[in-house]
Amino acid sequence: MLDFTSNSNRILVTAPRFITEITQKEIESLGYACKKEKDNALSLRGSLEDAMKLNLWLRTAHKVLFHLFSGQAENIDEFYDVVKDFEWETIIPSEGYFSIQSAVHNDTIRDTRLPNLKAKDAIVDRLTEINGLRPNSGPDTEQTVLFVYWNKSSVSVYVDTAGTPLNRRGYRHQPHKAPLQETLAAALILQSEWDPTSHFVNPMCGSGTLAIEAFLIGTKTAPGLLRTNFGFMHILPYQADVWNKLVEEAKKVQIPTTEGMIVASDKDPEAIAAAKGNAERAGAAAHILFRVTDFRDSLIPVGKGTVMMNPEYGERLGEKAALEKVYGAIGSFFKRHCNGYSCYVVSSSKELLEKIRMTPSSTKNFLNAKMDVQLIGYEVFDRNELAVTSESSPKRKLRSRKKPD
Ligand SMILES: C[S@@+](CC[C@H](N)C(=O)[O-])C[C@H]1O[C@@H](n2cnc3c(N)ncnc32)[C@H](O)[C@@H]1O
Repeated sequence: MLDFTSNSNRILVTAPRFITEITQKEIESLGYACKKEKDNALSLRGSLEDAMKLNLWLRTAHKVLFHLFSGQAENIDEFYDVVKDFEWETIIPSEGYFSIQSAVHNDTIRDTRLPNLKAKDAIVDRLTEINGLRPNSGPDTEQTVLFVYWNKSSVSVYVDTAGTPLNRRGYRHQPHKAPLQETLAAALILQSEWDPTSHFVNPMCGSGTLAIEAFLIGTKTAPGLLRTNFGFMHILPYQADVWNKLVEEAKKVQIPTTEGMIVASDKDPEAIAAAKGNAERAGAAAHILFRVTDFRDSLIPVGKGTVMMNPEYGERLGEKAALEKVYGAIGSFFKRHCNGYSCYVVSSSKELLEKIRMTPSSTKNFLNAKMDVQLIGYEVFDRNELAVTSESSPKRKLRSRKKPD
């Protein structure tokens, strides 16, 4: 029988392509050695408690798969037998609910729904024979989620301890337009190496994902603290006291606010309303300075910091010609108003990015919902600009956009 407390169980952490390097650093900083298995997966060894800890702390991962068993199957009948042989009665409660996802590369399988259906039948048949009760199954990922990897004749079955993917943190009920995935927003900020003792400015904030993720990073908030449900909570080996201990430890690490300011603005009042609602749910609303304003009028706190912008890029929202002017204005905004800041633009349009007319200091590729995007960095050297104190933020100094006449 599988020992869930042993630290030699195989764990696979998945993250979108291009992000795995960042995810690997996150895993290593939690004290685990891990290695890259594929473009979108990393492997390590650990217990169910370790898997819970990864769910609690990882900002850039999507799934944390805990290995249950492996076997050999040339065809669908052998596949059914391999799955039915496993002791499901030790994993799924007799009246539980489970969902199956799979990645199948086997020449005998044309329709990938077939292995899911067969695996479901095998589990239901076994549990009905043993418990006399039939568990339910379906597409809902709110309870036990199983992941089947069948490659040629080799079958590996995992429990997805996240259940609903970790990019769904739970705070974003109001996505507004073209939002970044929460995990991608976190990856962009980690890639930028923003120092949370400095400021983080997010003009064009949309639904506020970057500003909220900056708050979570800056306050050392484990993103899993925002969720009340994970896949691991629905399997029989789960021990609530172990999870509660991890949660308590994470709360002790958390700091109440960031040392630097977090500023988020958008020209659309509806975006700011959505961002405020999302920030409220993430516990960040009181710590982010929200403004409805054009990015050219964005407040830039005096001192060092990072500006990160995710403008529209023409393919989904705005039109390219109009956007050329916007990108040109972004370059001017950085040069004139962001002295001493590291500036970043996230966009999928190389053509539009060229309109910024600044020499990039860094370029990194990412994927946003299957679309290639780039994070381009620009350094703006400090010109020791004039500082004024904003009436809306009396305690902290804000740099004015224009010099007085
Ligand atoms: C691609 S969306 C940003 C999405 C955001 N990263 C998120 O995760 O929700 C671009 C945003 O830029 C805003 N925007 C466009 N032009 C602007 C301008 N001139 N000044 C300020 N905001 C602008 C839009 O209202 C929109 O919310």
